[in-house]
Parts: sequence; structure tokens; C-alpha cells
Amino acid sequence: MGIQIAPSILSADFARLADEAAAVSNADWLHVDVMDNHFVPNLTLGLPIVESLAKATDTPLDLHLMIEDPDRWAPGYVEAGASSVTFHVEACRAPIRTAREIRAKGARAAMALKPATPIEPYEDMLSELDMILIMTVEPGFGGQKFLDICLPKIRRAKALLDKHGLDLWIEIDGGVSAETIERCAEAGADVFVAGSAVYAADDPNAMIEKLRGLAEG
Ligand code: DX5
Ligand code: ZN
Repeated sequence: MGIQIAPSILSADFARLADEAAAVSNADWLHVDVMDNHFVPNLTLGLPIVESLAKATDTPLDLHLMIEDPDRWAPGYVEAGASSVTFHVEACRAPIRTAREIRAKGARAAMALKPATPIEPYEDMLSELDMILIMTVEPGFGGQKFLDICLPKIRRAKALLDKHGLDLWIEIDGGVSAETIERCAEAGADVFVAGSAVYAADDPNAMIEKLRGLAEG
């Protein structure tokens, strides 16, 4: 395992995605936010663009599906080239079946929790997953302020994983920056999505290394 830094292309120039992926060559994973204007009030991209992006970069694609009916769409994102596919439990009708389908097709399966969604109801299905994504902003937009109220949930997630002897990744998404990343790492997170912090930096790769250093402590 170890710290993973995943820049979000939501903050990139969508007309130049291949170049924008290349601009963050130090990234461990590239975070791709799929929004459908129903689950969240914003619209981004879908399968054809993910398919093209997967061919244009060697960096593993970390798909974050902020869409209704992820049960129907998640497996297609694995076929499109994703290394991990994250669905929101709030929108998923059959999270265990969906996680199994993602894994069967060869990607990491992850479930995402909005800030007000507790982790405890999902304790018994954690073994079906490779990763938990804990949102630290309300999903939908980049550049929002980090919600400190989400930190206890990171700690509770880590405690549940320890209790069951599971080694899932804990991914944090929203408002991650040089100012907030240490708190998340201390709480138990090990995968860090950063959109605006990386893409607004003068040197995105230097910012990735700065974030990595802070998270490693
Ligand atoms: C927001 C997306 C995030 C977004 C994060 O709903 O899921 O991945 O890109 O952007 P920052 O890092 O700017 O908060
Ligand atoms: Zn995201």
C-alpha cells in the first residue's frame, strides 16, 4: 500500500485532456469525476471520453461515478479502461452485486460516502470492496472548502478496517491541499484526490510531491 496522490482532471482543461494527464506525470492515479446532472447538479463526461483518455495515458484511471444508477454503468467503466471504479452508496441499489461485477472485470471496487452518510451500515460489506471514498465536500464541484466534520468518519472507517483485519484503501476527496492533507493522513487516509490544489499550482508535479511528503509525515 502506501500513499497515493490522485489529481482530479475536473480542474484540468477538458479540451486538452491528454496533455493535462501528461502534466501530472508524478501522479499515482488520475481521478476522473463522472457527473450526470442528476445525482449531483453538474455534468462532466462519460464512457467515450474515459475510453479515449485510457488510451492516451499510462497513469491508472480512478473513476468516481457521481451518477444515478451506478449499478447499470459501473462495469462499463472497467471495460473503458478504469483501474478503480467508485460508486456512491446513496445511489446504488445493489452495492454488493455492483462491487462484485467491478472486481470480476478486473478493477478495484470502491464505495463513496457523501459527508452526511455514515459508514457503519456498510460494515458487513467492507470485505467486498478494495477502497472506501470518504467525501470531504458535498460532491459536484471542485474548489470547495474542506469539511473538517468529515475527519471523525475517516477515523471510524480506519477503526472498522482494523477491527476486521481488512486492508482497504481509504480515499479522501474534496478540498485536499497542503493545508488539509496532514489531518486526513493522521486520521487514516492513504489515497488523496486533489483537483484545484494540483492544477492551479505553477508546477503541478512539484505540488504532487509536496502533498506526498506532507501525507507521509
Ligand atoms: C468533487 C469531485 C472532486 C473534485 C475535487 O465532487 O469529486 O474529485 O475534483 O476538487 P478539489 O480538490 O478542488 O476540491
Ligand atoms: Zn471525485
